[in-house]
Amino acid sequence: MAAEVLSALSPKAGGRYADGTLGGAGHAANILAASSPTGCLYGCDRDGAAIEAAQKRLEKEFPGRFELRRGNFAEMAGWIPAAGCDGVLLDLGVSSPQLDSPERGFSFQHDGPLDMRMDTRQATTAAELVNGAEADELAKIFWEYGDERESRRFARAITQDRQRRRFESTRQLAELIERLSPRHGKKAHPATKVFQALRIAVNDEIGSLKRGLEAAVAVLKPGGRLAVITFHSLEDRVVKDFGRVRTRDYTFAGGVDVPELREPRTPELKWVARKAMKPGEAELNENPRSRSAQLRVLEKI
Ligand SMILES: C[S@@+](CC[C@H](N)C(=O)[O-])C[C@H]1O[C@@H](n2cnc3c(N)ncnc32)[C@H](O)[C@@H]1O
Repeated sequence: MAAEVLSALSPKAGGRYADGTLGGAGHAANILAASSPTGCLYGCDRDGAAIEAAQKRLEKEFPGRFELRRGNFAEMAGWIPAAGCDGVLLDLGVSSPQLDSPERGFSFQHDGPLDMRMDTRQATTAAELVNGAEADELAKIFWEYGDERESRRFARAITQDRQRRRFESTRQLAELIERLSPRHGKKAHPATKVFQALRIAVNDEIGSLKRGLEAAVAVLKPGGRLAVITFHSLEDRVVKDFGRVRTRDYTFAGGVDVPELREPRTPELKWVARKAMKPGEAELNENPRSRSAQLRVLEKI
């Protein structure tokens, strides 16, 4: 959604931008190019390999115009000046290099260690959850983060199976789920939701997103824009709810929204586009992974 992001942030010379999810630095390079010759960019990613690749890519084309840090975007307000940015981008989820590297353990398409950490300095891996969590906890993860209807059955089978041998590889887990729920001509692999749910849990993606949205607003200037690309309904709901609350022109006491308890206030944010934007036909053909992407844009008042 390169064109949509550029149109949402409309980068200009002299502007300052933050990309909380650098990945391969595709959007970052576009923002720097569009804000030439003096625009600058703060970039972060939890993944050390992404930071290294982004550094190499950007220093060739845009020397001296960016500052990169490895870390969670939820912590960006700790190093990016408050109210210093004209635009912030969060392009959530996993990158193609992460999905396509078997050793990172994100994908059931390749065999690799059951890892799934975006930040490999973190202690908890997917193997630790799969081998250590109680059946109830695993079922909750599969249900809440994967919307998996068979969450309890899968969780029970995992806890039984692991008494014989630990789960160490992505293939081992994918094969168990496939045995429990054969494909019968279905398009999606039966382990799709379980893998998504484990990844979200391992990386605390929902908690990071909630804190990251707060941090993004803190680093935006009045008039600055926040663009968020989500890849599943759970993430999109967090962004929508955040926007709904922050664009309200009233507060209310006691946690109950009844008209008598409303107090007027100036909202912090406004929607730039109330409806989520989706990738066009051409992008879907070129990059099928973008099929579930949605872009929402808010502006700081
Ligand atoms: C969809 S990719 C981004 C692709 C990138 N925008 C590009 O143009 O190539 C998502 C990236 O965000 C990173 N990421 C996800 N959650 C993060 C978080 N809470 N803090 C920092 N980076 C995060 C992942 O490691 C991954 O590299």
